[in-house]
Amino acid sequence: LGKIALLTGGGDAPGLNGVIRAIVKTVKYRYGIEEVIGFRDGFAGLVRNNYVSLNLERVSGILHRGGTILGTSNRDNPFRFPVVVNEKVTYQDVSRQALENLRALGVEVLIAIGGDGSLSIGQEFHKLGLKVIGVPKTIDNDLWATDVTFGFDTAVTTATEALDKLHTTAESHHRIMILEVMGRYAGWIALHAGMAGGADVILIPEIPYDLRKVREKIEERRKHGKLFSIIVVAEGAVEQGGDMVVAKLVEGSTDPVRLGGVGQVVADRLGELTGLETRVTVLGHLQRGGSPSAYDRILATRFGVKAAELAAQGPWGQMVALRGSEITAVPLDEAVKQLKKVDPRGEMVAAARAVGISFGV
Ligand code: F6P
Repeated sequence: LGKIALLTGGGDAPGLNGVIRAIVKTVKYRYGIEEVIGFRDGFAGLVRNNYVSLNLERVSGILHRGGTILGTSNRDNPFRFPVVVNEKVTYQDVSRQALENLRALGVEVLIAIGGDGSLSIGQEFHKLGLKVIGVPKTIDNDLWATDVTFGFDTAVTTATEALDKLHTTAESHHRIMILEVMGRYAGWIALHAGMAGGADVILIPEIPYDLRKVREKIEERRKHGKLFSIIVVAEGAVEQGGDMVVAKLVEGSTDPVRLGGVGQVVADRLGELTGLETRVTVLGHLQRGGSPSAYDRILATRFGVKAAELAAQGPWGQMVALRGSEITAVPLDEAVKQLKKVDPRGEMVAAARAVGISFGV
């Protein structure tokens, strides 16, 4: 077998370093491979041949560290790589250059640790004959083929801690407190943090909301002497019959880019509807930072071990995944086909409703 290379692509997530560490350790202890090539800044490093050599010493002491020691990047698709020509960004297919760099380095297998975008790029390279292994990553937990992604637990914990803090000040001031959390396409962070943090209302992309229903919930609470309310809103939440207020598509990207502020929209409109004081907290990238939780360190390690095994032995063209309590592998092309959304009729939403949480419908 030739060399193994890895990269971390897309938005970072707590646990990335745990995956890198587990891969380097497993290939050394199980297969006697001393060195793994680590491309810097995602696929950009692959295109620019910017890499470091990873060994046991290099990955020592990184398990508890957030972020990625390799760096990452968002707009680095080698099949549509941004190149500035005459002060204008154009997009070029530089995938041949990437493959040539791998060949020159003697790399036979590439492990792509990333979300939907990076895994799709990995799948494209696999179709061109490269041995690719995918490791799913996103704090949003919206990758369909795995039950959980690392980073999600840490993000939910951060959002829950924020809710705990908002509760005391909300109660003192009899205010409606709105916490905007991440989740453009799926409301997993909002749903889990809302349940853990005792929210009164959870607004998610999967269940378009009606603010008049939210007002009813707030008024019902006030009748029972609860003069404050806590609302968690996912950044991709939409009003019934409305458009996504936070996102738009920009040229050269298939991802909506945040314009900011569904939380503020909800706060302003609810303020008008209820006459009560509202305040917004946008949690933003705090959810992506910091030390991974114990759960995320363990999941990252298990994913890394499995990815190293597949890299060394095949089958390739697979993504590691958690199904139930088992680590397994699924074909990359299946993994990137669709996103995993909250089921509005599922058990989680029903349980939230059972304890009195409103989804604004
Ligand atoms: O996909 C992860 C995520 O954190 C989303 O929850 C969020 O919408 C997006 O990335 C933010 O992206 P950026 O870091 O590019 O602003």
